[in-house]
Amino acid sequence: MAALKEKRTCGQRCEDFGRFVWNSDNGTLFGRTPEKWVYISLYYVAFYVVMTGLFCLAIWTLMYTLDPYTPDYQDRLPSPGVMVWPDKYDEEHIVITYNSSDKVSVSKMSSCLHNFLGQYNDTLQKDCDHNCTKGKYFMQHNFLPGTHTKESCSFSVSQLGNCSGLHDPTFGYNCDMPCVIIKMNRIINYLPSKNNTQDIQVNCTVLEGEENVKKIEYFPENALMDRSYFPYYGKLAQPNYLNPLVAVRISLTGKRSAKFQCRVVADKITYENIHDPYEGKVVFTLQNLHVPSSPSSVHHHSSTL
Ligand SMILES: *[C@@H]1O[C@H](CO)[C@@H](O)[C@H](O)[C@H]1NC(C)=O
Ligand SMILES: *[C@@H]1O[C@H](CO)[C@@H](O)[C@H](O)[C@H]1NC(C)=O
Ligand SMILES: *[C@@H]1O[C@H](CO)[C@@H](O)[C@H](O)[C@H]1NC(C)=O
Ligand SMILES: *[C@@H]1O[C@H](CO)[C@@H](O)[C@H](O)[C@H]1NC(C)=O
Ligand SMILES: *[C@@H]1O[C@H](CO)[C@@H](O)[C@H](O)[C@H]1NC(C)=O
Ligand SMILES: *[C@@H]1O[C@H](CO)[C@@H](O)[C@H](O)[C@H]1NC(C)=O
Repeated sequence: MAALKEKRTCGQRCEDFGRFVWNSDNGTLFGRTPEKWVYISLYYVAFYVVMTGLFCLAIWTLMYTLDPYTPDYQDRLPSPGVMVWPDKYDEEHIVITYNSSDKVSVSKMSSCLHNFLGQYNDTLQKDCDHNCTKGKYFMQHNFLPGTHTKESCSFSVSQLGNCSGLHDPTFGYNCDMPCVIIKMNRIINYLPSKNNTQDIQVNCTVLEGEENVKKIEYFPENALMDRSYFPYYGKLAQPNYLNPLVAVRISLTGKRSAKFQCRVVADKITYENIHDPYEGKVVFTLQNLHVPSSPSSVHHHSSTL
């Protein structure tokens, strides 16, 4: 029987197909009566209408329950990322290279810092100067009267002392004392420490090339990020909020190259997440390409001959 079937001619097959499309004997179209097709179509239309309705309802409920002043969702206990300026971000590793005797290189580094610090301009910050009590978390449970905003403590560039760019517009990139600026990312409603007494402090350590580092200085003093800048209540509630900064002035010597790790230290800030190398810390290499010829480098050259 199977062999017989395979031997059917093409014409017969076309005929079969034609009968499948429209079978006049029992009045079916593609195997179903037109009436059945209408029912099936109605069923699917109804099905998709209900599905769309459910989807819209879900989205609407979600949007309705979202408060624009609080974070949408937080998938884990958050710990903020840390960044360094000037931001010469390579693929994996941050390398801040400059040539202290090359005017173009020096102005590239300093204009990057001037741009970044523009928003911290003293005159701008004086306008939104509020009465912040230093050393205490600035908890604001209510909005300011008649508004939907909360106060933000000002941070002006002069707090960065010798790394403010006010006295030395090159930020030390014309010599061996460059400044880098450490910033911690914002997380809404986040307090970096359990305690209102524990300091939030930047601590930079030398990972490689210790012999090339003469001194590390911090601005503001004690490398503190004052607690009055926390918590952050979000862009809507605090449109004028600025992250507190800590500037680090590094005095290089010898080969003028070293690798650093700068951590923001507080009991709730974690920094050993292998999936996020920028969590709680930033690692970077700082290098001045201009190394003055010194007896040691002469010795090095002669020894390779
Ligand atoms: C640094 O800049 C000076 C002046 O432009 C130049 O002579 C020197 O070759 C540069 N050094 C390096 C390592 O690029
Ligand atoms: C700060 O802003 C004022 C007014 O916009 C401007 O005159 C001044 O030069 C700025 N200062 C710095 C250090 O950029
Ligand atoms: C600043 O704070 C102090 C103490 O909380 C308060 O006595 C003073 O009135 C405040 N000043 C302004 C201008 O808000
Ligand atoms: C800034 O630098 C100058 C000269 O290098 C120094 O005399 C002064 O003490 C420094 N200021 C601070 C706050 O470190
Ligand atoms: C919190 O502060 C108290 C003093 O106010 C101190 O005794 C305690 O050790 C602090 N706890 C932490 C975790 O730093
Ligand atoms: C910075 O961290 C290192 C290593 O964890 C520690 O030995 C050092 O005391 C810290 N320095 C400050 C100023 O906290």
